[in-house]
Amino acid sequence: MTALLQVEGVGKRFGEFAAISDVTLDLRGGETLGLIGPNGAGKTTLFNMITGFLKPDAGSLRFDGAAIDRLAPAQRVARGLVRSFQKPMLFPALALRENIAMAARQHAGRGLSWWGGARATRAANDEADRLLIEAGLQHRAEARVADLAYGEQRMADLLIALALRPRLLLLDEPTAGLAPDEARRLLAIIRRHDEGTSVMLITHEVEIAFAACDRIAVLNLGRLLCLDTPAAVQAHPAVREAYLGALAA
Ligand SMILES: Nc1ncnc2c1ncn2[C@@H]1O[C@H](COP(=O)(O)OP(=O)(O)O)[C@@H](O)[C@H]1O
Ligand SMILES: [Mg+2]
Repeated sequence: MTALLQVEGVGKRFGEFAAISDVTLDLRGGETLGLIGPNGAGKTTLFNMITGFLKPDAGSLRFDGAAIDRLAPAQRVARGLVRSFQKPMLFPALALRENIAMAARQHAGRGLSWWGGARATRAANDEADRLLIEAGLQHRAEARVADLAYGEQRMADLLIALALRPRLLLLDEPTAGLAPDEARRLLAIIRRHDEGTSVMLITHEVEIAFAACDRIAVLNLGRLLCLDTPAAVQAHPAVREAYLGALAA
């Protein structure tokens, strides 16, 4: 497997504070890579650099073999590097189906224009319906996103991201605040799509990472402790000491 994403010696400081120091990792095509670590480890900071919302002070990023350091977030999305959007990116006054269909049309290259033809509209609506059925949300298709419950909105974030057909889907704590059955359903959707889509899944819930990921990267104090299979990570002495000690006890 060749690397889809290569993070090479990346660092980020906030003033004197080094939030990320010299992190090198690769994400292989087709894999689900977990990114775990205690609160404040630098997970979101690394994620923001990969998606282009923060500029690294050091190092480089390559996606599908090409440097992406100079690309704006939207340009990275156009190459297939998609983060789940979270509420501000939804159109709250529009129906859930329309929100997902707009993302599907964006993928089809017609952007947000409404006049791309009846066929494109129908295809996008069909795609939205497929995703809604998969998520068990078809009964909410006509609901305004603003009227959705919190768990439904988090699922909507994911469906919109999937409608963009990402090559790499980046999810930052997608199950935060969800009830256990909602979290299970969301992870099942992610897994069902992980054949064609590589995934980077940030979570501080180690059980989720161990259950859902092919490999796991462990961050601690801004540094990469290890990157290995779930079993190897679980057995790693430095990881146990820094992070899993409480679990082992
Ligand atoms: N914009 C910022 N300015 C200053 N410090 C920040 C900023 N963003 C994050 N940090 C700090 O960097 C560290 C890593 O944060 P973060 O990447 O959010 O960690 P995680 O997502 O692993 O919980 C934390 O100590 C946090 O307080
Ligand atoms: Mg975070």
